[in-house]
Amino acid sequence: MAPSLYRPQDAGDSLRREIVIVGAGLAGLFLALKLAPARVSVMSPTPLGIAAASAWAQGGLAAALSPEDSPEAHAADTIAVGGGLVDPVAARILAEEGPARIRDLLELGVAFDRSPDGSLRLSLEAAHSFPRVARVGGDLVGKAIMDALTNAVRASAQIEILEGLRAISLLEDGKGGISGIAATRNDGGLVRLHADQTILAMGGAGGLFRLTTNPREARGQGFAMAFRAGALIADPEFVQFHPTAMDVDTDPAPLATEALRGEGAILVDDRGRAFMGDYDPRADLAPRDVVSRAIGAEMAAGRQVFLDGRAAIGDHFPTEFPVVFEAAMKAGCDPRRAPIPVAPAAHYHMGGIVTDLRGKTSLDGLWACGECAATGAHGANRLASNSLLEAVVFAARIAESLHGEQRDTAPASDFAPVSVMPDAEMQPLRAAMTAHAGVVRDEAGLSAALDLAGQMSERFPGALALVAATQILEAALARQESRGAHFRADYPDTVPEARHSFRLRTTPVSPSPVEG
Ligand code: SIN
Repeated sequence: MAPSLYRPQDAGDSLRREIVIVGAGLAGLFLALKLAPARVSVMSPTPLGIAAASAWAQGGLAAALSPEDSPEAHAADTIAVGGGLVDPVAARILAEEGPARIRDLLELGVAFDRSPDGSLRLSLEAAHSFPRVARVGGDLVGKAIMDALTNAVRASAQIEILEGLRAISLLEDGKGGISGIAATRNDGGLVRLHADQTILAMGGAGGLFRLTTNPREARGQGFAMAFRAGALIADPEFVQFHPTAMDVDTDPAPLATEALRGEGAILVDDRGRAFMGDYDPRADLAPRDVVSRAIGAEMAAGRQVFLDGRAAIGDHFPTEFPVVFEAAMKAGCDPRRAPIPVAPAAHYHMGGIVTDLRGKTSLDGLWACGECAATGAHGANRLASNSLLEAVVFAARIAESLHGEQRDTAPASDFAPVSVMPDAEMQPLRAAMTAHAGVVRDEAGLSAALDLAGQMSERFPGALALVAATQILEAALARQESRGAHFRADYPDTVPEARHSFRLRTTPVSPSPVEG
């Protein structure tokens, strides 16, 4: 049976590589391709493409690609929804470099939807001032991109794919730098991958919540590993809740993309009343945090909420939104004939590992991109369809920075003990996170969830999911205000002077091996 607690002295295989990318979603694969001709290894717990959260994306990539739009307008929209915490330079980079990255994806064979005149067909999503979301086959963007990238990566002689390895700890060099990564094999064996440059290109933390649109395995492992190794973390409390996950009792919950509302679908209560106008003048196209809280309020008042696409989309569901259509039909709801039951679900983590604008973290030899990184582009609330865009823009920046980068790597000391938690053991915490660290939070609920995470940490020392949950909960408790996706019922106002919450490990993690 596989051990559940890995200690520094555990024997295992030892490999040596120059550059290792941990994670094989959009950010990781795009970075690997951009690094050509450098040799690079990509580590993935599952066969490429299958389980990456990127493959589930339905919206698209936002970019100023139409004549009436501009990077300035895209950056301004990004800043406007971010609760005052978007770094304007990061937003400008995202908006300015976005169109070139979309051209890269076109060259890789991603067939973005076209208008009859041959130009890219761009959709409107909430809080965008222009239609600017490039989609594929309606809601198939994630799958289309991951298929194209997976094919390109598999065909590349420069990229080594290490499948079946689940990262558990960064290897520290004892001098404040990182020298690679420790991972477990599917058979439970341990592998140390020593590397000059380690890039965390991992997903988010939605799997810490019972109601999520993310893979259940996405439990904040990237930022938890970085935190344990002493990297600077920012704003872990900012978790975005997607307003329209399908409320159909599946785990994870299928997404009903925001593009549906862009096309005219509306939110209604169980009597068919369109309620969003009561909450915001932008009604169904208000930013995600506003819509999620409005749905939360309707549900708290005992009303069920539905997304009604019958008039706006109707018989076009199977062709325009095939992923939503299939998921709804599977759950017994034909969206052409009936509204889809929806509820807000954990969807995206704005907080994470602090990087500079090149993707470098606070630790020598460690870089981060994708959802686990905090580049400054999202602040307290991400603009719709900016996540895939951020993944490719900042992955490309890391590639540019790494070309020709030499590092005199010190040998790895080792890693602190880490437990691997069985899925079943996670369920009470996931329920507590959704109940107490969800759309509406308060001190009593957050404290109860934090107590639970503390008790579980005694049984599972160093478990990454518990490190991640603890960081989210502590930061949410400490932020005594409401801002962006973080809403405190006991502190409903925004405190103008409140800024980022930076978190840094101040005590060594388990200095001596834990018994168990
Ligand atoms: C969606 O399609 O609504 C999700 C896209 C995103 O998270 O930006």
